[in-house]
Amino acid sequence: MRDQVLSRRVAGLKPSGIRKFFDIAATMKDIISLGIGEPDFCTPDPILQAGIQSLQRGETHYTSNYGIIELRRALSAHIEKLYGVHYDPDTEIVITVGGSEALNLAAIALVDPGDEVIIPTPCFVSYQAAIIMAGGIAVEVPSRMENNFALDPEDIRRAITPRTKAILIGYPNNPTGAVASREALLAVSKIAEEHDLVVISDEIYDRLVYGVKHVCYPALPGNRERSLLLGGFSKDYAMTGWRIGYACGPVNIIKGLLRVHQYMVMSAPTMSQKAALEGLASGEPYIQQMVAEYDRRRKLIVNGLNAMGLPTFEPKGAFYAFPKVSVTGLDDDTFANRLLQEEHVALVPGNSFGLGGEGFVRCSYATSYEKIEQALEHIEHFVNRI
Ligand SMILES: Cc1ncc(COP(=O)(O)O)c(C=O)c1O
Repeated sequence: MRDQVLSRRVAGLKPSGIRKFFDIAATMKDIISLGIGEPDFCTPDPILQAGIQSLQRGETHYTSNYGIIELRRALSAHIEKLYGVHYDPDTEIVITVGGSEALNLAAIALVDPGDEVIIPTPCFVSYQAAIIMAGGIAVEVPSRMENNFALDPEDIRRAITPRTKAILIGYPNNPTGAVASREALLAVSKIAEEHDLVVISDEIYDRLVYGVKHVCYPALPGNRERSLLLGGFSKDYAMTGWRIGYACGPVNIIKGLLRVHQYMVMSAPTMSQKAALEGLASGEPYIQQMVAEYDRRRKLIVNGLNAMGLPTFEPKGAFYAFPKVSVTGLDDDTFANRLLQEEHVALVPGNSFGLGGEGFVRCSYATSYEKIEQALEHIEHFVNRI
């Protein structure tokens, strides 16, 4: 067998820091995990039933490559009602296998080898990988805690080169919980227009915001034609395992994503599309309940971490807190590893999320209030000991 069997692109990908960590955690007993980036809630019952009934009706076949038209119509109406931006359900929406597929379609459809994509970091671990797998170069632009991990348009501007093709943003943000202000997003639009760049906006946590309104990037004036809106049902509707996401954009870009999607997966799971359709019809009260519970946990964890001396900025979205652990004298890898070994609490070292994450850890509060209370006690013991 030749030495270099894997493509250089794939061989060069760093293993996900999250996976590495959870492989260790999986071998241990009695772990309290603040590590997982998915809702602890089960999918709301009407959505569950819609999926089951779809299967029982024998809907076990492929759908249109775009996804079922009923779901595209409902999604188009939903997005328009929330944000005032219209996507034609016939040609401007594609239903994907989770937000993850939407991200990879966007990368493959837009990026040529050597193209640069600017990514504010820390960010979802798949952003850099999606760009690299598409043959592009991920240009990380770190945000800072002193600035509440806000999107800094001037940092983006400084990172632009003649090879820059796109900007990939994700707010509410995983792992920091930061949300993006209208002003910052408008400044990004201006940069995108000046330099003829496409903006890929991953808004998968759009409904999980606390005391603020989500600002939808493509809905801002002039943005629709040079942006892609990525989203999904995994987080807001507690549907990670159903694998339903979407990409919306102008027809010339969606045409490209659809071509890749056709060859790659053909269509998203049929029963899951039916379940998602039910989510749009009757999911709202469940989202409200989940948001209220996340908010209760958010306050508990942020106050708890700050009280024990780990500076933690107040996240306004998603379900993560991002305390600065370097104040203990330990780096984030050592902090997370020792906390796991000595106190059996799992969280994720911040450097897994790219530049700017070093010295921080991600604590997910998508776990029960009681478990968070226990985890905080253990973290406090650990911090007091070191
Ligand atoms: C910011 C962000 N985008 C996309 C995804 C992918 O979600 P999905 O499960 O729908 O593929 C995640 C999952 O953690 C995420 O955090």
